[in-house]
Amino acid sequence: MNYKHPHGHVFYRKMSHARPKIAYGEGIYLFDESGKRYIDGSGGPLVVNVGYGRSEIVEAMTKQAQAAAYVHALMFTNEATEQLSSELAEIVPMPHPRFFYLSSGSEVVEGAIKLARQIQQARGQATRDIITCRALSYHGMTLGALGVSGRPGLRTPYMGMMINMPHVRPPYPYRLDISGEELAGRLEESIMAYGAETVAAFIAEPISGASLGAVVPPDDYWPAVRRVCDKYGVLLIADEVLVGMGRTGKWWGMDHWQVQPDIMVTSKGLAGGYVPLGFIAAKHDDVELIRQKLGDWNHGGTFSHHPVACAAALATLHILHKEKLVENSANLGPKLGQMLQEALGDHPHVGDIRGRGLFWGIELVQDRESKDPFPVSRHLAWDVAQRAFEKGLLVYYSQGCADGQNGDVIMLGPPLIVNEAQLAEMVGILAEAVQEVLPG
Ligand SMILES: Cc1ncc(COP(=O)(O)O)c(C=O)c1O
Repeated sequence: MNYKHPHGHVFYRKMSHARPKIAYGEGIYLFDESGKRYIDGSGGPLVVNVGYGRSEIVEAMTKQAQAAAYVHALMFTNEATEQLSSELAEIVPMPHPRFFYLSSGSEVVEGAIKLARQIQQARGQATRDIITCRALSYHGMTLGALGVSGRPGLRTPYMGMMINMPHVRPPYPYRLDISGEELAGRLEESIMAYGAETVAAFIAEPISGASLGAVVPPDDYWPAVRRVCDKYGVLLIADEVLVGMGRTGKWWGMDHWQVQPDIMVTSKGLAGGYVPLGFIAAKHDDVELIRQKLGDWNHGGTFSHHPVACAAALATLHILHKEKLVENSANLGPKLGQMLQEALGDHPHVGDIRGRGLFWGIELVQDRESKDPFPVSRHLAWDVAQRAFEKGLLVYYSQGCADGQNGDVIMLGPPLIVNEAQLAEMVGILAEAVQEVLPG
């Protein structure tokens, strides 16, 4: 696909095509400078939750920027950060949570694994420096986050530069029909193989996001994982970067199983996409222990606890509450699932349709019987996403879900302000795109 705008001095990750220039956004729509409308069916990679053009957020950011755009967290606190934390404490499933703010998902994951290490040191467990993680997962682009991710395509060029942590199998009911208890058993085997005294934490996505495409674990999975972690003194880090902030119909992915993590991170939707912001949440007792035993947390960040970003997040949080958008996500989730089933469920190359709330994945296969994926070289997910793009629908896509290389999944994750008619339009366009690329 070729667009006429050159990128001048900019370069982007995907270098195969030029991009249209966006003029503005409104609600669930973006408009490029030619006037073409795009329905945001994926919220970027599931970022935009309260929609484009929200003046409440812009006003809150402006007010804070005018008052004090930046203060260094080593010297000051600020009202936006304090108030945001008090309000987040009401909804984060941890006893008396405390919050540390950075910008991207990768940064909060880096921070979380370092925090886990420091909590273990403060507990007198200085030999624990392994972070056990899962295959077919994604936790970010920085070397620490990539070290605990399970995306071979993204990791391979940098293997020599990162610490490769132990990976265990993730839940994936479509391709691996075993119980959550058994999967937690594999985590236990891994912890025992390395020696519990060496394992600081286990990190995982509550509902698998970018790599597997909206895979919901069996109901017994998270309670069983929590038991294993408790048994061996291993901290549980929930990476809610993608599924947090109401995306799946509850505030947090872990809320579906009422399992409390020891550390939680989120980012994408935290400030509605208006500005980058992520948090690391930890239990007060653990933070306090670090203060008592180690003095400080050995971490930082010039832009940590940024007042303007926190003001944007506070305004986003207020909109989510006021407009009952988490409830909207819960109510529309089953309807979206049903629409996808009706439009694509019988397609000979649609292997699985899965998801929760306003986050759904459609896995494409060569053959429904064998579940064989298309080869990665076919670039199928990309082709479908591009066809949808041409038709004015933005979807998220991923390759590698089946075995790390092959396996195509298309994801829908619209802003949480979406309504049923808009979902129907999205599903209609997506079904057309699938049908045109893969005639059924
Ligand atoms: C679960 C999860 N963790 C971390 C990240 C990394 O976030 P970022 O791209 O903001 O660095 C992502 C990004 O997709 C993610 O889905």
